[in-house]
Amino acid sequence: MIDIHSHILPGLDDGSKNMEETLGMVRQLHEAGFKTLIATPHVLEGRDYLSAGEILATTDQVRERVVEAGIPVEILPGAENYIFPDLAKWVSAGKLLTLGNTGKCILVELPMLEIPHYTEQVFFELQVLGITPVLAHPERNKGLADQPERILEWAKKGILFQLNLRSISGHYGPQARQLAETLLRSDLIHVVGSDAHRVSRSESSYLEGLRRIEEIVGGDRYRELTRRNPQLILEGEFLQGERDYLLKGLSGRKSGSRFWDWFRR
Ligand SMILES: [Fe+2]
Repeated sequence: MIDIHSHILPGLDDGSKNMEETLGMVRQLHEAGFKTLIATPHVLEGRDYLSAGEILATTDQVRERVVEAGIPVEILPGAENYIFPDLAKWVSAGKLLTLGNTGKCILVELPMLEIPHYTEQVFFELQVLGITPVLAHPERNKGLADQPERILEWAKKGILFQLNLRSISGHYGPQARQLAETLLRSDLIHVVGSDAHRVSRSESSYLEGLRRIEEIVGGDRYRELTRRNPQLILEGEFLQGERDYLLKGLSGRKSGSRFWDWFRR
C-alpha cells in the first residue's frame, strides 16, 4: 500500500520532532501494511514558507536512515500545501512540491472552518497546468460539512479526495466520522492516507481504520483506495477535467431519496 499523506520528516512542521521519532513512525506505518510513504510536511505561504529544496534534502536523509534501519519502505517527497490565491503560480515557479515530485498531482489543504472564495480558481489554474489537485481530508472541513454538495461539484470537475484513515474511527470527532462514512459509501473518496504526525499511541489505530474502510467499500474498492489509485496519482493517470460521478445507493436508505437529503438528515 501507498500512503500519500504523512508528516514523517523530522523538525520541518508539527509532525515528527527528530529522526528517532521518524523511524518509529515509518516502522508503525510499515506494520500497518504501507510499502511507500509520501512525506507531506505542511507548506504555507509567507514567513514560515518551507522550501521545496529543504523538503527534498530532508526526504533524502530520511530515506538513507530508513535503509540503514533495515525498514523495507520507500520514502518519496511531497507536501501538504495550504491553499492561497497564488498557489498555482508558485507551483509554476517550482516553489511547491507535487506528490512524489512527479508534477502530476498536488496535495492541497483548506482551512478547517471555511472554504476560501478563491478555492475553485486555484483548482482550475492547477488543472490548466496539467496538475490534478488532491484535497486533503475533506471530511475534516467544517465548510464542506455544511455544504457537502461542493464536494460533488468538485469531484465532477476532476478534483480527487484523500480521506484520513483515522477519521473513520472517530479520531477527529463524530462529524468527521459521519462525513467520512458518507463519502466512502458514495465513492467520493479516491485515496486514503495516514496524516500521521507522530507515533500513534494505539499500535492498531491505522489497521483499525483500514479494516473499517474495507468493510464499508468492499475488497475491490479498498484495493483501489490503498494501492491502485495512489499509484495512478504518482503516475498522473487520473483523467483530467469534467467527468461524471454516480452516487451509489446507501444501505438502509429508501430508494428514490436524494443523496444530499439523506446526508442532511
Ligand atoms: Fe496533514
